[in-house]
Amino acid sequence: MPTLAQRMSRARPSAIMAVAMKAKAMAAAGRDVISFSIGVPNFLPGEHVYAAAREALDHDSGNYGTNRGREDLLDGFLEHLRRAGIDGYERRHVVAGIGNKHLLFNTMYALLEEGDEVLVPTPYWTTYVDICDILGATATLLHCPPEADYKLTPAQLEAAIGPKTRLILFNNPSNPTGMVYTPDEVRALADVLVRHDVWVISDDIYNRMIFDGLPYQHLVLARPELRDRVILMDSVSKTYGMPGWRVGCMAGPESIVDAVVRLNSNHITNLPEVTTAAAAAAYTGPQDIPERMCREFQAKRDQVLASFARIPGIRCPKPQGAFYVFPDVSAFFGKRHGGTAIGNDVELCSALLEAEGVAIVPGSAFGEPRAVRLSYTLPPAQLTEGLARIERFFAALA
Ligand SMILES: Cc1ncc(COP(=O)(O)O)c(C=O)c1O
Repeated sequence: MPTLAQRMSRARPSAIMAVAMKAKAMAAAGRDVISFSIGVPNFLPGEHVYAAAREALDHDSGNYGTNRGREDLLDGFLEHLRRAGIDGYERRHVVAGIGNKHLLFNTMYALLEEGDEVLVPTPYWTTYVDICDILGATATLLHCPPEADYKLTPAQLEAAIGPKTRLILFNNPSNPTGMVYTPDEVRALADVLVRHDVWVISDDIYNRMIFDGLPYQHLVLARPELRDRVILMDSVSKTYGMPGWRVGCMAGPESIVDAVVRLNSNHITNLPEVTTAAAAAAYTGPQDIPERMCREFQAKRDQVLASFARIPGIRCPKPQGAFYVFPDVSAFFGKRHGGTAIGNDVELCSALLEAEGVAIVPGSAFGEPRAVRLSYTLPPAQLTEGLARIERFFAALA
């Protein structure tokens, strides 16, 4: 039988999806499962988004569209950037794709040769490392421990940049930790980056979900001269409750944006008209739903932290954005739950799922095996019940 390309031996299925699938299978078999596993915002977009989609259906052109993305979508994304204070980009600096993940893959494909080094602050979103592996690039993990609030320091960044470094991945607010860099912290990292001729992908997908009145800062606002090497990666998935619609947009220097347009022309050709219209409407329409959801997520974050505070031994840096918490649970390794030994994060998650029907993701999936990730966008009653079960589980560890 003919074989697959060598690079496919390096392509792994998502570890997060594996947990989600197991939880789904248990639920299908009749178990009462509460899943904190997948990073979905769990709300639907506004009626104006559906109206735009219906209108697009009614006026279907029946044609192919543009490789860069339709102008109303590109303009909508530019408006979205301006609302965050990021001005000065034009249509020629932006391109649309099938979600942030697709643009990320294409961007990394366009930038990286085999053996190039990519610096990945760790804990990381799993896909960053998975794409490096597929492309044969070397992901160098920059460990940012709970003691440092899971944040990269300027000194760490400066020391890590070497002759083989081509790309740095920066995700703020962060998946999996929910941590947000303060304006001063962003500026300090930007001050390092201006001294080095390397590409930076700034994954801004959670930047409308920042809590506690913390001001948002971006690398290109802190040091505008970084615009010639920073790529801004975004999508409607999290901000507008549209993960399944699969629309992302990125902004950056024309060279990389044009490269991604060329890649689009070779595989997707264009985004569908209906999803394009829906995403454009999300960007240009009323912004009250994302603002309300941000307040709701902050309240849920507080509920989760209050629950963790009742579990002695859990250490959880306070997340100020996104919708994740990433507690350090390593104090419980070496304990038992009934007859089950808990030696590490994977065993802890597995025992929790078996004993209480609660699915959370082992931190090792994100490069930090001392921790576990919870996505807390569940409806209120499920969230409360899930947290009660987690508290009961930890109380029973001995
Ligand atoms: C940090 C981060 N970047 C990108 C994505 C992918 O987003 P999209 O749905 O736009 O592909 C996710 C989704 O979980 C994410 O957490």
